[in-house]
Order: sequence, then structure tokens, then C-alpha cells
Amino acid sequence: MHFDRLWRGGRLATLAPGREELGLVENGALGCVDGKISWVGNSDDLPPGYSAGQEIDLEGRLVTPGLIDCHTHLVFAGDRADEFEMRLRGETYETIAESGGGILSTVRNTRVATQAELTTGALDRLDRLIAEGVTTVEVKSGYGLTLDDELKMLRAARGLERERSVSIVTSLLAAHTVPPEYRDNRSAYVDLICEDILPAAAAEGLADAVDAFCETSAFTPAEVRRVFEAARAHRLPLRLHADQRSAGGGAALAAEFGALSADHLERTDAAGARAMAAVGTVAVLLPGAYYALRDKDLPPIGLFREAGVGLAVATDCNPGSSPLTSLLTAMNLAVILFDLTVDEALAGVTREAARAVGRFDSIGSLEVGKACDLAVWDATRPVELVYWMGRNPLHSRVFQGVPA
Ligand code: NIG
Ligand code: FE
Repeated sequence: MHFDRLWRGGRLATLAPGREELGLVENGALGCVDGKISWVGNSDDLPPGYSAGQEIDLEGRLVTPGLIDCHTHLVFAGDRADEFEMRLRGETYETIAESGGGILSTVRNTRVATQAELTTGALDRLDRLIAEGVTTVEVKSGYGLTLDDELKMLRAARGLERERSVSIVTSLLAAHTVPPEYRDNRSAYVDLICEDILPAAAAEGLADAVDAFCETSAFTPAEVRRVFEAARAHRLPLRLHADQRSAGGGAALAAEFGALSADHLERTDAAGARAMAAVGTVAVLLPGAYYALRDKDLPPIGLFREAGVGLAVATDCNPGSSPLTSLLTAMNLAVILFDLTVDEALAGVTREAARAVGRFDSIGSLEVGKACDLAVWDATRPVELVYWMGRNPLHSRVFQGVPA
């Protein structure tokens, strides 16, 4: 047996389903051919007479699948530091939004930015994720809210793959908020999404999924339904910002449409959790937004566990509710604030995150046939990834079989 590259002598957290917890393999070896994993197991069981183009001694280090940030708004222009200060002085996310700030303030900046400017800004944030062993990032549109500006955002997102060794998964989030020019004619904006923006994004292959913000300050369940029907007609998978600021039945709506994920979920009830479990919709937990908005209502983790809902963890990196560029910090916040276990937090940025972006067939665990995306840590125990705040124990990173 020949490997292009072989790593041996490490502690592998394979995250392979069917194995206990993290699927740990001690003294593990992992072989790669053509960018894909071709062998995983104990180093002592390597096939006799194997050969390898390069052999790398892991020296006992922990190896995990490359991390996946499955919910970000990485592409945007400007920042909202002034609004952050307003919130520190007691204003709320909602009152700021009502007075034309919030998401709309980032929309104004993003509309006047060129695609190249959006790329430059996104690369700064992407590099911080990559430095922590992230190999796949989901990126949403949603700060353009016109045909041209939504496509510009998605093209900028897609283009990041050409700039760095990373996989990008895109979501069209034209249903993020109603733009000012449609304030008195909301249904015409939903028409624009369904009849123009979504078909154009689909035709250009720019959207891997369609997302929406189901919220009293954004879109009603009936409006989200229309967007979801249109997405379905284009065979695009669905995601939903659900039950974040108000309980609107978002989790159940996402489940009704068989969405890949429902995200945020601070105000989801038991019926919503059961509906998600029944169809395998993953709960994407975003503790950065919970923390930065000083929310008090916790997502119902116990209900999700009881029902058997998969739990993913992401940064929600955005200039407003979650100015967070560290997935390791999101894991720390998830265990401290949301009571996740260390194993759940690690599964949440690998296996469950892969499910949330609809790619568990190719990433998210160390299994034969999957992309050889690895994070090698200067650590031996998984808890070390979650325990430090602001310390990055990444030793090295491998993207599609190549150290990068
Ligand atoms: O995921 N909830 C809606 N969208 C973002 C916030 C975006 C913003 O405030 O700019 C979120 O938290
Ligand atoms: Fe979000």
C-alpha cells in the first residue's frame, strides 16, 4: 500500500460515528492519497510493506478533523463598534435596529464596497479562523439585499477559496432584514428574493444553501415559508436563524422543511426540539451572540439532548451581534455558558458542524474516503482546546492532504 503522506504516532480523535464519544485511537496513524484519507488505525497495524512519499511523526500529539465554522457572516464592510458602545450604555440591539442602525448600517457599508474590498476584509477574519485549525467555513450573504449586492457578497465568499487553503460553503441570506426601500412593501421584497435573487444565485452556482432570519424584527414565518418554497424549487438545502430574540416557532418551521440546521434557538420549546430530532435538523449554537447581547435565556440544551438533536457550535462572526473571530473561544463559551461537555463542543465544530452544512459525506471525521483535513494540536487531551481562553494550541494544519 502506498500513501502520498503518512502521519503516525498521534492521538486521533476520529469523531467517527458508531465509536464511543470522540472515537479516540491511541498511537494512531493516518494515510492519505490524492487529498483523501486512505487509511486510519493504530500505527502498529499499518499494512506490512507500505510505502509513503512522506512520513510525519506526530510525537504523541492530538489530531482532530480540521475544524468547521458552520455559521458566519464573514463578508461585510465597516464595523459596528459605535453601536457596541451604545449597547454598553444601555441601548438594545432592537432599538438600535429600529432607528436604522444594526444590520441596515452594515448593509449601507456593504452596498458601497467593491467585491475586492469585501474580499480584503473577509480575509483578515478568515486568517484568524485558519490560524486555529479551521479548514471549512460557511459564509452567508445578507448585507446586500439587492440582486447585485447579494451576488457580489456570494462571489466574494466563493473567491476566498482561491486565496487560502480552505473550503467555503455559502448560504444565501437575502431574507436577513427588509431593506429600507421596501419598508412599506415587504411582500415585494420577498417577491424579489423568490423571483430574482434566489434564481440568479442558483443559476450561477453561488449558493450551497438558503438561510433566513425568522424574527419579529426580520421575517415572519409566512414570509420565510415563501422563501423556503422557492429554495426547494431550486433544490437548495435550507438553514434558519430561529427563535433567537423571540419565540416564533422557528425551530419547528425549519424542521417542517427538513432544514439542515436551525441556528441560535435561545427561545425554542420542547415541541421545536422534538420536531428537529424527528428529521435530523442540527441545532447550531452561537454562544458569541448570546454573550455579546447579554442574553439571559439559554437555548434548551437539555431538551435537545433528550430528543437526540445534534449540537453544532459556531462563531456567528458578524459586526453586530457576535464580533467573534475565534472558534476555540466559541467552544469555551459553549461549555461555560451553555453547559456543553468538552466532547460535545469538539463534536460541535467537527462532526455536527459538517452535518449542519450538509457535508458529512466528505468532512467532519477522520474516516477513509473523506478529505484529509486535519488539525494537529500541541496538546494530548481534547479538553486543552476548550480550557484556555485566548491561547491557541494549534501545532499544524493539513488541508486536503497538504500541510497548510
Ligand atoms: O446571526 N441574527 C441575525 N443575524 C446575525 C446578526 C447580524 C448582524 O447583527 O449584523 C446573527 O446574529
Ligand atoms: Fe447569524
